[in-house]
Amino acid sequence: ADYIHEALKPISWLAGRWYTVTGRGSYPNVREFGYHEELEFICLGQPMFNFLSISHHPEKGTAMHQERGFLRILPEKEKVALVVSHNIGLTTIEEGHYDSNLKEIKLASVSIARTSFSKPPHVTNLLREFVLLSPDTLQVTVFMKTDKKPLSQHLKAVYKKVE
Ligand code: HEM
Repeated sequence: ADYIHEALKPISWLAGRWYTVTGRGSYPNVREFGYHEELEFICLGQPMFNFLSISHHPEKGTAMHQERGFLRILPEKEKVALVVSHNIGLTTIEEGHYDSNLKEIKLASVSIARTSFSKPPHVTNLLREFVLLSPDTLQVTVFMKTDKKPLSQHLKAVYKKVE
């Protein structure tokens, strides 16, 4: 990510590739698990980041959850929208605000859709938070609600920037 579109200035701290130093997953009645994940926020000259997430099993190295999408920005309102397709047959549109001083982004799902044959339980709400802890350290937290379980933390990970 050499060139970053002017509109992305307030969230330019996200740009680049990130890799977990710690990734912990949890959910009610799910055994706590560790995972590795690569994240990408790449600007192709448009006023948005192309977003990619691929998680891996920490021992086996096999691919697990995956996401591809776009992080769009509306600087006039300090708003962002993450449009994502997940490999589990799910699409989420998440919207929220950024704080360019605190260097954080808070998103909440505004729309969720799934394939007719996606495996239950169904996700009904998703909250995501990105916080830059230092210029090369990113923290991501995800809370999730399903049609079976209340809003609970599913993911917490800390990443280092890949040079
Ligand atoms: C479980 C959704 C990201 C690993 C689940 C469940 C759902 C879900 C609906 C079932 C929960 C239950 O049985 O009550 C999502 C969504 C994600 C996400 C929407 C992204 C926002 C991840 C990531 C990993 C992961 C990044 C990393 C490896 C797991 C594991 C389980 C699980 C290991 C438990 C075993 C299983 O049921 O397959 N997730 N997940 N998830 N998720 Fe995620």
